[in-house]
Amino acid sequence: MDCYTLTVNGEVREIAGDEATPLVFVLRNDLDLIGAKLGCGLEQCGACAVLVDGEATLCCNRPAGEFAGKQITTVEALSEDTEGAAVQVAFIAEGAAQCGYCTAGLVVAATALLKKTPKPDRQEIASGLEDHLCRCGSHARVIRAIERASETLAHV
Ligand code: FES
Ligand code: FES
Repeated sequence: MDCYTLTVNGEVREIAGDEATPLVFVLRNDLDLIGAKLGCGLEQCGACAVLVDGEATLCCNRPAGEFAGKQITTVEALSEDTEGAAVQVAFIAEGAAQCGYCTAGLVVAATALLKKTPKPDRQEIASGLEDHLCRCGSHARVIRAIERASETLAHV
Protein backbone atom coordinates (compact mmCIF):
# COMPACT_ATOMS: atom_id res chain seq x y z
CA MET A 1 0.00 0.00 0.00
CA ASP A 2 1.27 3.49 -0.85
CA CYS A 3 1.98 5.95 1.90
CA TYR A 4 2.29 9.63 1.07
CA THR A 5 1.62 13.03 2.55
CA LEU A 6 -0.70 15.83 1.56
CA THR A 7 -0.88 19.33 3.03
CA VAL A 8 -4.52 20.04 3.72
CA ASN A 9 -5.84 23.13 5.47
CA GLY A 10 -2.33 23.91 6.70
CA GLU A 11 -1.64 20.48 8.18
CA VAL A 12 0.57 17.74 6.81
CA ARG A 13 -1.53 14.58 6.66
CA GLU A 14 -0.25 11.04 6.18
CA ILE A 15 -2.32 9.06 3.71
CA ALA A 16 -2.17 5.28 3.44
CA GLY A 17 -3.62 4.14 0.15
CA ASP A 18 -3.26 4.23 -3.59
CA GLU A 19 -1.88 7.57 -4.77
CA ALA A 20 -3.96 7.14 -7.92
CA THR A 21 -7.20 7.55 -5.95
CA PRO A 22 -8.83 10.83 -6.94
CA LEU A 23 -8.30 13.51 -4.33
CA VAL A 24 -11.99 14.04 -3.57
CA PHE A 25 -12.23 10.47 -2.21
CA VAL A 26 -9.15 10.95 -0.03
CA LEU A 27 -10.53 14.19 1.39
CA ARG A 28 -13.94 12.69 2.10
CA ASN A 29 -13.09 9.13 3.09
CA ASP A 30 -9.65 9.38 4.67
CA LEU A 31 -9.68 12.88 6.13
CA ASP A 32 -13.40 13.30 6.92
CA LEU A 33 -13.51 16.55 4.97
CA ILE A 34 -16.89 16.13 3.33
CA GLY A 35 -17.44 19.69 2.11
CA ALA A 36 -16.15 18.92 -1.38
CA LYS A 37 -18.85 16.83 -3.06
CA LEU A 38 -18.64 14.11 -5.65
CA GLY A 39 -21.04 15.06 -8.43
CA CYS A 40 -20.16 14.01 -11.95
CA GLY A 41 -16.68 12.63 -11.26
CA LEU A 42 -15.74 13.92 -14.71
CA GLU A 43 -14.65 17.51 -14.06
CA GLN A 44 -17.92 18.76 -15.49
CA CYS A 45 -19.98 20.10 -12.58
CA GLY A 46 -17.71 21.88 -10.08
CA ALA A 47 -19.06 20.22 -6.92
CA CYS A 48 -15.63 18.91 -5.92
CA ALA A 49 -13.67 22.18 -6.14
CA VAL A 50 -10.94 22.92 -3.60
CA LEU A 51 -8.19 25.52 -3.59
CA VAL A 52 -4.79 24.23 -4.65
CA ASP A 53 -2.07 26.82 -4.16
CA GLY A 54 -4.87 29.37 -4.24
CA GLU A 55 -6.43 28.21 -7.52
CA ALA A 56 -9.92 26.70 -7.65
CA THR A 57 -9.27 23.13 -8.73
CA LEU A 58 -11.55 20.22 -9.56
CA CYS A 59 -10.33 17.12 -7.74
CA CYS A 60 -12.73 14.32 -8.71
CA ASN A 61 -10.66 12.95 -11.52
CA ARG A 62 -7.03 13.67 -10.63
CA PRO A 63 -4.85 11.33 -8.60
CA ALA A 64 -4.33 12.51 -5.02
CA GLY A 65 -0.60 11.88 -5.42
CA GLU A 66 -0.45 14.73 -7.94
CA PHE A 67 -1.22 17.14 -5.12
CA ALA A 68 1.74 16.20 -2.90
CA GLY A 69 3.72 19.31 -1.98
CA LYS A 70 0.85 21.66 -2.79
CA GLN A 71 -1.31 23.63 -0.39
CA ILE A 72 -4.80 22.17 -0.51
CA THR A 73 -7.56 24.20 1.12
CA THR A 74 -11.06 22.85 1.45
CA VAL A 75 -14.25 24.74 2.18
CA GLU A 76 -13.97 23.67 5.82
CA ALA A 77 -11.04 26.08 6.30
CA LEU A 78 -12.46 29.05 4.43
CA SER A 79 -14.09 30.63 7.47
CA GLU A 80 -10.50 31.45 8.54
CA ASP A 81 -9.80 33.16 5.23
CA THR A 82 -10.68 36.83 4.68
CA GLU A 83 -12.29 36.36 1.26
CA GLY A 84 -13.68 32.92 2.12
CA ALA A 85 -15.40 34.22 5.24
CA ALA A 86 -16.89 37.18 3.37
CA VAL A 87 -18.18 34.86 0.64
CA GLN A 88 -19.83 32.54 3.16
CA VAL A 89 -21.56 35.39 4.98
CA ALA A 90 -22.75 36.79 1.64
CA PHE A 91 -24.06 33.40 0.47
CA ILE A 92 -26.13 33.18 3.65
CA ALA A 93 -27.37 36.76 3.33
CA GLU A 94 -28.46 36.20 -0.28
CA GLY A 95 -29.84 32.70 0.31
CA ALA A 96 -27.51 31.57 -2.46
CA ALA A 97 -28.23 27.85 -2.16
CA GLN A 98 -31.17 25.51 -2.45
CA CYS A 99 -30.26 21.84 -2.04
CA GLY A 100 -26.66 22.94 -1.36
CA TYR A 101 -24.95 20.20 -3.32
CA CYS A 102 -23.07 22.66 -5.52
CA THR A 103 -22.52 25.25 -2.80
CA ALA A 104 -19.12 24.28 -1.40
CA GLY A 105 -17.67 24.26 -4.90
CA LEU A 106 -19.20 27.65 -5.65
CA VAL A 107 -17.87 29.11 -2.38
CA VAL A 108 -14.40 27.87 -3.30
CA ALA A 109 -14.68 29.33 -6.81
CA ALA A 110 -15.98 32.66 -5.50
CA THR A 111 -13.17 32.85 -2.97
CA ALA A 112 -10.54 32.21 -5.63
CA LEU A 113 -12.18 34.80 -7.88
CA LEU A 114 -12.20 37.54 -5.24
CA LYS A 115 -8.58 36.88 -4.31
CA LYS A 116 -7.56 37.55 -7.90
CA THR A 117 -10.19 40.10 -8.84
CA PRO A 118 -11.48 41.98 -5.80
CA LYS A 119 -14.10 43.93 -7.78
CA PRO A 120 -15.27 41.59 -10.53
CA ASP A 121 -17.84 42.73 -13.07
CA ARG A 122 -20.65 40.41 -14.20
CA GLN A 123 -18.55 38.99 -17.03
CA GLU A 124 -15.67 38.21 -14.68
CA ILE A 125 -18.05 36.57 -12.21
CA ALA A 126 -19.55 34.46 -15.01
CA SER A 127 -16.06 33.41 -16.10
CA GLY A 128 -15.13 32.55 -12.52
CA LEU A 129 -18.16 30.30 -12.24
CA GLU A 130 -18.01 28.68 -15.66
CA ASP A 131 -16.93 25.28 -14.30
CA HIS A 132 -19.91 25.17 -11.91
CA LEU A 133 -23.38 23.84 -12.52
CA CYS A 134 -26.35 24.32 -10.21
CA ARG A 135 -29.33 22.14 -11.02
CA CYS A 136 -31.46 24.15 -8.57
CA GLY A 137 -30.94 27.39 -10.46
CA SER A 138 -29.28 29.39 -7.69
CA HIS A 139 -26.86 31.18 -10.01
CA ALA A 140 -28.58 34.59 -9.87
CA ARG A 141 -28.34 34.56 -6.08
CA VAL A 142 -24.76 33.32 -6.24
CA ILE A 143 -23.85 36.27 -8.46
CA ARG A 144 -25.50 38.68 -6.03
CA ALA A 145 -23.64 37.02 -3.15
CA ILE A 146 -20.30 37.49 -4.89
CA GLU A 147 -21.12 41.15 -5.54
CA ARG A 148 -22.09 41.53 -1.88
CA ALA A 149 -18.87 39.86 -0.69
CA SER A 150 -16.86 42.13 -2.97
CA GLU A 151 -18.59 45.19 -1.46
CA THR A 152 -17.95 43.92 2.07
CA LEU A 153 -14.27 43.29 1.35
CA ALA A 154 -13.87 46.78 -0.09
CA HIS A 155 -14.66 48.12 3.39
CA VAL A 156 -12.40 45.78 5.37
S1 FES B 1 -17.54 16.06 -9.20
FE1 FES B 1 -15.77 17.10 -9.86
S2 FES B 1 -16.46 18.38 -11.43
FE2 FES B 1 -18.21 17.18 -10.91
S1 FES C 1 -28.28 24.51 -4.86
FE1 FES C 1 -28.85 22.53 -5.58
S2 FES C 1 -27.40 22.07 -7.12
FE2 FES C 1 -27.00 24.12 -6.58
